[in-house]
Amino acid sequence: MEGIVVDFRSDTLTRPTPAMMQAISSAVLGDDVYGEDPTVNELEAIAAQLSGKEAAIYTVTGTMANSLAIRLQTEPGDELLMHGLCHPFHHEGGSPASVSGVTVRPLSGEYGLVTADILKASLRPDNRHMSRQKMFWMENTHNAGGGAVLPFDVMRQTAGIARDAGLKVHIDGARIFNASVASGIPVSEYAGLADTMSFCLSKGLGAPVGSLLCGSAELVHKARRFRHMLGGGWRQAGILAAAGIYALRNNVSRLSIDHANARRLAEAIDAGGHLKVTAPVHTNMVMFAPRDPSVSTADLVTKLAGLGIKVGRSTCGSCRAVTHLDIGPEEMARAAEVFSSFRM
Ligand SMILES: Cc1ncc(COP(=O)(O)O)c(C=O)c1O
Repeated sequence: MEGIVVDFRSDTLTRPTPAMMQAISSAVLGDDVYGEDPTVNELEAIAAQLSGKEAAIYTVTGTMANSLAIRLQTEPGDELLMHGLCHPFHHEGGSPASVSGVTVRPLSGEYGLVTADILKASLRPDNRHMSRQKMFWMENTHNAGGGAVLPFDVMRQTAGIARDAGLKVHIDGARIFNASVASGIPVSEYAGLADTMSFCLSKGLGAPVGSLLCGSAELVHKARRFRHMLGGGWRQAGILAAAGIYALRNNVSRLSIDHANARRLAEAIDAGGHLKVTAPVHTNMVMFAPRDPSVSTADLVTKLAGLGIKVGRSTCGSCRAVTHLDIGPEEMARAAEVFSSFRM
């Protein structure tokens, strides 16, 4: 087993399985810019149904779906409230500012959770001196929060507070299926708290490309124009949508395997004595760091890579290992072996 490389850097690394490739090669195609790709239309209908929204639009990436959600529901100069570890604040190339002209107000909270008190304390009256608060953002699961599943009751409370203050609500559900499998709460119930919800097919669900933005028919109609402006009019996209449909039909319930693997990995990391797990493990991510504070996470990443274990570094300051479709029993056994005997 020595010599195998186990890649825990992200669940985006998965490659299509032969069965998914079969679905891709038998996809019925048309031109999606004319609205005539039956496979894209089918995927969008499935996404609308799963989210309980009127409509959905297929986008190239989660970043594009998030950018559209902001562009559609704000005006330049508006303020977008989100936890300070949320994805668009750090990892979307400055998109909120560049695509939509909005400022982001980063909020605090444990593991990506903005509580009702924190949200209330950050609301301001409508006053011409201040940017207008227009949107409240939740990320579930929370990536830099350690793959945390946000508690539904708190989400409901904060969504209600935001709505009462006249704010639009968006859920970045890049990994909402992980949240749903872990909590048992249907995706549509999460989406029901928000005006719009995005989710990704190209992460734990194992499709090579693609995300969806779900919302009202009117918003999705407008989104088609903005997506086109961003270069997202993508013709015979059914070739990719077929992989998305396959993923939604076959790869949702198996996410529980990734979650169990993440828990096993966390045990092995803690067991070695030199490393510590830094966030509760709710889904498919494990955040960890050296116990010795003088050892940097950069050095840890390098050392583990030398042992054939690839991990990343998270915005939260810890190392991050993500379990996914391409991590099977052999990879887990190798990782457990390395971590349980790890010395810095
Ligand atoms: C929470 C979250 N939102 C959005 C994205 C963006 O997805 P994409 O890489 O498809 O642009 C990611 C990517 O990792 C993410 O973790």
